[in-house]
Amino acid sequence: MSILITNIKKLVQVEGQNPPLRRGKQMSTLNCIDSAFLLIKGGIITDYGQMSELRRDGIAEKVIDASGKMVFPSFCDSHTHLVYAGSREMEFMDKIRGLSYQEIARRGGGILNSAKLLHNTSEDDLFHQAMRRVDEIIRFGTGAVEIKSGYGLNTEDELKMLRVIRRISKESPLTVKATFLGAHAFPERYKDNKAGYVKEIIEEMIPRVAQEGLAEYIDAFCEEGFFSVEDTDRILEAGAKCGLRATVHANQMSESGGVEVGVKHDAVSVAHLEFATQRQFKCLANSKTIANLLPGATFFLEMAYPSARRMIEYDIPVALATNYNPGSCPCGDMKFIMSLACLKMKMTPEEVFNAATINGAYAMGLGTTHGSITRGKCANVFITKDIPSYEFIPYSFSTPLIDTVILNGEIYE
Ligand code: NIG
Repeated sequence: MSILITNIKKLVQVEGQNPPLRRGKQMSTLNCIDSAFLLIKGGIITDYGQMSELRRDGIAEKVIDASGKMVFPSFCDSHTHLVYAGSREMEFMDKIRGLSYQEIARRGGGILNSAKLLHNTSEDDLFHQAMRRVDEIIRFGTGAVEIKSGYGLNTEDELKMLRVIRRISKESPLTVKATFLGAHAFPERYKDNKAGYVKEIIEEMIPRVAQEGLAEYIDAFCEEGFFSVEDTDRILEAGAKCGLRATVHANQMSESGGVEVGVKHDAVSVAHLEFATQRQFKCLANSKTIANLLPGATFFLEMAYPSARRMIEYDIPVALATNYNPGSCPCGDMKFIMSLACLKMKMTPEEVFNAATINGAYAMGLGTTHGSITRGKCANVFITKDIPSYEFIPYSFSTPLIDTVILNGEIYE
């Protein structure tokens, strides 16, 4: 199908060929065209420009008049755990009573609780539960998503999760990237033999994941009480040997060494960074690794926010993602994440749009195909309702503002 969107009040995040990852100050530039049109053919963005430049030769099967509305590239949510079984609202009650994330985990709750639920859920059921969240995030404006395993914690259940992620990528219109996160927590059976679990990940899980081509990335939760720097180092190295690129959960609860080990392995991103300091900023500034900030988890766990402003001063590329998961962020709404980033980390609207689109795309290896309005890129866009400005989006933090979602050039109903 071909679609022509006309009379667009503002076409946002318009970029020429091969738009680069945005670092530091570059994140303040958001290129827009007022009074614009956008042409989509065969799932691809083929043309755009000012209305005055539009040729009048009936070029599309469907014409959408977007008077008063804006058009954005779909969000690129580059860190999620959205395949999980059930929910953990009972731990939310524990949290209200004052228990911390780590205390809940030590009691066998947290990730281990989700692993138990997932073990007792069939692959088909798990897929259908995840698809409800997929539909939810599409309606929130997301067009590309990274999804991690990590609630299996044994070979068969990790593979089950990754097969569900593959099925989502085939059966939903989202562009999906899969990450193997066997190193998310130590399962009960290895509580007195942590080295044994690391060995199982390296010798059993990684080769199976690679053989079946179920993931492109490998992740580890490098944190006190979870995986040490040495564990993470060995796991990422084993992943690299099997062609899996690194990404790391780093410095979420402490100065864990996750940033340094991630950079050592040329990680595409290191995520969280609540406990990152000047040392880690310098390390990131001298690397190609993206700082992936997840303020939804910081909010939900009631912690101090990462220093986004310092990172931007250090010329680090910053991305934003939801971290949609049942324990630290049961929310897949990129718009709310952008509002948090503005309010709590003092990022500007221009910075948060760059972080949630082009930098998010780069944070999952999609920089050349997603994350901007560029000729030849995948036609993943959304049309807003009638809004006064793009700043209105992070400002009105809970109002649904999306009118029409277009993914791969098709209207999502
Ligand atoms: O990124 N920190 C580790 N993983 C998730 C939480 C997962 C869970 O609690 O289920 C996070 O916050």
